[in-house]
Amino acid sequence: MQTNVQGKKVLIRVDFNVPLNSDFQITDDTRMQKALPTLRHILDQGGSLIVMSHLGRPQKKRKDDGSLDREKFTLRHLVSHLSELLGVAVQFSTDTVGEQAEAMAATLTPGQVLLLENTRFYAGESKGDDELARQMAALGEVYINDAFGTAHRAHASTAKVAQFFPADAKGFGFLMQAEIDNANKVLQDPDRPVTAIVGGAKVSDKILLLERLCDFANNLLIGGAMAYTFAKAQGGQTGNSLVEEDKLDLALELLDKAKAKGVNVVLPSDSIIADQFAADANHQEASSAAIPDGWMGLDIGPNARADFAKVLHESKTILWNGPMGVFEMDAFAGGTRYVAQAVADATSKGAFSLIGGGDSVAAINQLGLAEEVSFVSTGGGAMLEFLEGKELPGIAAIRS
Ligand code: 3PG
Ligand code: MG
Repeated sequence: MQTNVQGKKVLIRVDFNVPLNSDFQITDDTRMQKALPTLRHILDQGGSLIVMSHLGRPQKKRKDDGSLDREKFTLRHLVSHLSELLGVAVQFSTDTVGEQAEAMAATLTPGQVLLLENTRFYAGESKGDDELARQMAALGEVYINDAFGTAHRAHASTAKVAQFFPADAKGFGFLMQAEIDNANKVLQDPDRPVTAIVGGAKVSDKILLLERLCDFANNLLIGGAMAYTFAKAQGGQTGNSLVEEDKLDLALELLDKAKAKGVNVVLPSDSIIADQFAADANHQEASSAAIPDGWMGLDIGPNARADFAKVLHESKTILWNGPMGVFEMDAFAGGTRYVAQAVADATSKGAFSLIGGGDSVAAINQLGLAEEVSFVSTGGGAMLEFLEGKELPGIAAIRS
């Protein structure tokens, strides 16, 4: 980290948008763990920390009477765990900005940590309100952004706040820098062949990514429900599978574009099909082009798994975004697990592998393979937009 934080009050934006259970206990602290190197570095340098994050979408998930559900979305739920992780008793401000936050920030001494309340309790956060950003900026002398997971949002705390700090008093944290560097490793002059595995429910969510991949990937493996839009576009019988009827032409255009660019597209030749969308549905194998009425494809089949693995084993760079099937249901998680293992195997043979997106990351973690792939991104939407070639507001604000 180039920014000098020694003895400074450092306002740091992290993405502590972690999942909580109904007792408000953290069920996966990956995002907190990943921010620790930056937080520790600043404390080690004699800085103090003013930590801000959002948690959930409190403006959208209001209570029946229209008020904010402060109990559910308070960052207070994270105080004790963060204290444990840092070995410091973390102080908490019940307001993100304003008198209380200012008073607590003003009295911080080197090595101390203040966590601010959920930035999204202010409607101005998501609107990128300048006045809110100015009040946030007033709390610290240096601004560090380590919130890659939220870097695609042009919010007050992620982007607007940076304009109030001179170039030498703002910068990226280690996590943000690592996310940028690893994504660039895939995008800029990667070792070939490059293989992208793209999954998930809808083609429409991934159009920009797929188009971009046509420009630099050698192989494109397509799984998840979106594969059935391709299968139907090619004249296959897809039964009750999830198909975006209005994207059939687009699917064919994408295949044409890939062909024109010499990209080898592999669609799942077979599927695990089910008679309903349920964990305990009846299920069997079928050709992805011959799914009977009343049945739907919920995972890639054994032949598709073998086809995908063969390509992966010969790859030098691998990018994976999106699950191969309905990963939340055990009966339809096999394809995603198989691909996860194949990515890990290819990595052990020297490939560089980058995993982004919630379900693919969950699969890697669940299988205990996080250490066996090259990089696991903390960004879902953020990584997708980065790979699509968009300039992320959280990154641009630091650079400008
Ligand atoms: C996420 O989990 O996707 C990030 O924290 C961003 O949250 P958002 O999608 O609610 O903006
Ligand atoms: Mg999101």
